[in-house]
Order: sequence, then C-alpha cells, then structure tokens
Amino acid sequence: MRLSKHLADLASSTLQSALGLDERPDPLLRPADPKHGDYQLNAAMALAKKLGRKPRDIAEEAATELAKLDAIASADVAGPGFINLRLEEAWLAARLTESLSDPKLGVDPVDQPETIVVDFSSPNTAKEMHIGHIRSTIIGYAIVQLLREIGHEVIGDNHLGDWGTQFGLLIVGLREWGDEAKLKEDGVAELERIYKLASAKKNEDEAFADAARAALAELQQGDPESRALWERFMAITREAFDAVYARLGVTFDEWLGESAYQDRLEGVVGLLQEKGLAKEDQGALGVFFQDLGGELPKSLRKVKTPFIVRKKDGAFNYGTTDVATILYRKERWNADRSVYVVDTRQGLHFQQLFEVAKRLGVEMELTHVGFGKILGPDGKPLRTRDGGVPKLMPFLDEAVSKARERIEEGRESGRLRIADEDVDEAVKVIGIGAVKYADLMQNRTTDYRFDPEKLIEFKGQAGPYMQFQVARIRSIFEKGGETLEGFSAPILLDHDREKALARVLARYPDAIHAAAETYQPHLVCDHVYEVATAFSGFYDDCPVLDAEGDARASRLALCALSEHQLAHGLGLLGIGVLDKM
Ligand code: ARG
Repeated sequence: MRLSKHLADLASSTLQSALGLDERPDPLLRPADPKHGDYQLNAAMALAKKLGRKPRDIAEEAATELAKLDAIASADVAGPGFINLRLEEAWLAARLTESLSDPKLGVDPVDQPETIVVDFSSPNTAKEMHIGHIRSTIIGYAIVQLLREIGHEVIGDNHLGDWGTQFGLLIVGLREWGDEAKLKEDGVAELERIYKLASAKKNEDEAFADAARAALAELQQGDPESRALWERFMAITREAFDAVYARLGVTFDEWLGESAYQDRLEGVVGLLQEKGLAKEDQGALGVFFQDLGGELPKSLRKVKTPFIVRKKDGAFNYGTTDVATILYRKERWNADRSVYVVDTRQGLHFQQLFEVAKRLGVEMELTHVGFGKILGPDGKPLRTRDGGVPKLMPFLDEAVSKARERIEEGRESGRLRIADEDVDEAVKVIGIGAVKYADLMQNRTTDYRFDPEKLIEFKGQAGPYMQFQVARIRSIFEKGGETLEGFSAPILLDHDREKALARVLARYPDAIHAAAETYQPHLVCDHVYEVATAFSGFYDDCPVLDAEGDARASRLALCALSEHQLAHGLGLLGIGVLDKM
C-alpha cells in the first residue's frame, strides 16, 4: 500500500463528507515538517475560495473528522488553515507487519497497467562499448525492473546501431587490412582498427570511398557475400557485448537493432510524403517543421535543422529507422509507451522524432529519459591517457580491482568478515554494485564526478554500505538461530528509534512508484540509504537478540523488513547482495 495514496484517498473522502461537497476534493497532501506531524493537508485554503468560508473554519471542521480515523493519531490546525496529521503508530505498525509477509513488500500495482517498451543500452556494433554506454545500460535496466515492479508489461529492447555506412567501410577495409588471426583473438579491437584505417582512407582516396559505397549498396540489396560478412561482424560484436552484459547482470527481452527495420524504411518515407510531412530539398528528403503549420512544441519552434529521412545519396537516416521502430512497436505490441534511455545530447533528435510520430497520428506516449556525462575527479569528461573515450570493460576492471584492495584491507583490519573462498564473489558483487550505485544515486540528468578512489565506501551513500547492512541483518538472524526468509511477527513500536525506522519503512511503496513513474532510480537509492541509516540507529540503541518475548520478535520483524527492503530495492536497481561481509 502506498501510504501517501492511501492517506490522500482517506483525506479526500473525509473532506467531502465533513464539508458536504459534491465532489471529492484534492486534499493537497504533503509530507510535513517532522516537528509538526507526518503529513500536512493544504486543501482548506483552496476550498475556502470555492465555498466562500474562512480556511481556518474549514480546517477545524475537517480536522475533527480526520482525527476520528484509525490511521490518524491527531489532526491539528495551524496557521491560516494547514492541517497537520500525525499517524497512529499502532496502525502504522500493523501495516508494516502486513507488508512483511507480502512478497512485494506492499508495492501495489498501478490502476492501469500499460505496455511499455524501454529502449536502452543500444550501442553501435563493430565498436567496443565505451564509458558512454554504461549509463544507458545501468539506468535503463533499473527502469525496466521498476516499471515491471509496479505492474506494467515491459519490453526491454536493445536497439543496436547495427546498420549504416560503417559497414561499407568495414567490408572494403577488411579486404585490405583484415588479419584473420587478430579477428579470432580480439575481434572487436580488430574491427575498430580496420574501421579507423578505412574512415581515414575514404577522405583521401575517392576510389576507396566509392568502393565502400558500392559495398554498402550491395549489402543493402542483400548480396549473400556481403551479408555473410555483416553477420560475421555482428557475431564478433555480439560476443563482446554479451561479456559486458553478463558482467553487469543485464538482460534484454528483445535485440531489435536498426537492421531489423531495413525493409520498412522505404515505406516510412512513402508514408511521410503521402501525409505531406516530408519534402525534398536539394536532393535530400526531410521534415521541415517550420513549414508544416500547426502548433509546434516550444522546444522546436526556433529549430532550423530539418529531420532528414533520406539523404542525397539515397541512404536512410538514424531518424528514419526510429520512425519505423515506433510504428513497429505499435503494430507488434500495441505499446502504450516507448521510453528512450539515451544521452541528453540526443534531445533534439527525440523531440523531432516525437513530433513526427504525433503528426503521423501514432497514439503512444513517447519519452526521452536523458542522462548527463560521467566526469573524472577533476570535473572534466573522462578520457584515457591518449585522449580517447575510455572503454567500458577496463573501467569495470578498475572498479573491481579497487573493490579487491578495499576488501583485503577490511579483512586484515577485521572490519570485514569474508572467508577466503568467498572473496572472489564478494569482489564482483561489491565492485560492480558500487559502480551501479554511484551512477544510479545521481539525479540522472546532471553530469557527475566519478572518483574510483571513493567508489568502495562502507559508510555513507555508497553501494557497499547498503550491502553491508544487509549482511549485518542476515548475520543477526543466523546468530539468533532464526530464519530470515518468511520471518513474521507483530511489529510493536515503543522506542523512538523503532518509530523512526518504521516511518522510513512505511515509505517504500511510495518510493518505488515515484522512481518508476518519473524514471528516477535515485529515489530508490535515497530510500535504501534512509533505511540503512535508520536501521543503524535502531540497532545501536535497541537490543534485538537480547530482548525478550514479543519485543524480541518485533525487533526481529523490523530487522527482517529492513533487510527485505534493502535487498529487494537494490535488486530492482540490478545490485546484488551478500550473506556475509
Ligand atoms: N545507437 C545509438 C547511440 O549509440 C543509441 C540508440 C538509441 N535508441 C534509439 N531508438 N535511437 O548513440
């Protein structure tokens, strides 16, 4: 149960009956300053105008009725007509006890489930994945899981950049410089080498450029030999991508790359012409928004760049494929929403794409979930020593080796209790988890500084700290001879630390829903961090195993619920946990 939704519903119907309204008003429920209460209702001010009465009087009348509800301990009027609500702790405790035996920990499904395609990761093939792809992969995967958790039908789609001019260059380049042994050994690196040589040569050598164009045309016309080469390039890159995804623990439901839509591009262009959306200009065909007439979204009003769908040389564009993709997602899944987890720098592309889809009459909510860059500790974009964009795998390797160092330190000092045979697994879970947490805890739209030296922290807002709290709770159960899985007992709230922890735990369903619906995984990070700190405070002051009877059982139940929220919340973010740390 979402506490905020539940209370808003209760407050709304109470206001309606207390004030004799025809409709249920919006209670304007907000979290309150903890000094005054748990929630605040601001509706009296808005209703005062409508009813021609003093807000304070309305508030008094409503507060009297609100205070009678089981969930409410007190409802006090403050200032011009704010109503401060304090939750009834016994009621709150009963709700937490219920959520403990719910596999979804109280996360209720949305009223109207939708079919949603999440387009994420989507690297370009025949190249190694670089650091820019990590954010789309990590954030996208968290969004897939969060949307699914609140009851939507979700299709995670890896829209690979697996088609386009680079393949013409690769085919001719392979003939000229290809090294079979290297292709077998480190295929993607070899493809990148060939691609670099070929793109340099095409600028100097007209005949070479022509040959590349011809090779591309052959591939597009379905020439079997070119097709076989393309498939080989695909297999090589796919292997490298799979290694990255396996390491990150990320999976997809579909791998519909750009190549999957090739047969449809001609038709898309035809459709755009037929609808009068695309027109020719100097041989190219594009959508010129300024000339379309009708209302344009603000963001496009001053934009001069057209959305090109067919280039002068007849080749189709990135955008043409994206239009075809939207139509396909409608046709195949009748998708209600498509969500694109892509760098904010592609913002204009998506605004234009979405406007084209709207003008085509496609009924689908289209959202660009953008994200900023990863910066180095100096605040500048991450670069390799020779100025290139860092590759993804070595970046993960570095994180994992930092985790190994810190884990060994912790073991030596006795702070970490990880057995020899568990170290390798722990290094992976902690190292990769730390990278993901560091990324996901950021408000995704901003650039953030990544400091490998500060990655593995067992205190504060860092993945390993959350994992540490999980392991700590698991060992409490082990030490007490109790089974954590399925543990249940009535929760009682006596100590202030218990009450504080309970208030945090009660917000879990709200946090999951808010994170999913606003595509902001950092809200889950914030929640697990609050659980971890509130738990820590509780555990410092409230003996668990040494308590007796109902108190012991209740405290174990608070431990269990904390553990479930931490482990499950982290799981939704794609972050693993350990039994012992
Ligand atoms: N391949 C593109 C890139 O690496 C991202 C594709 C995003 N998805 C899409 N449907 N355009 O920049």
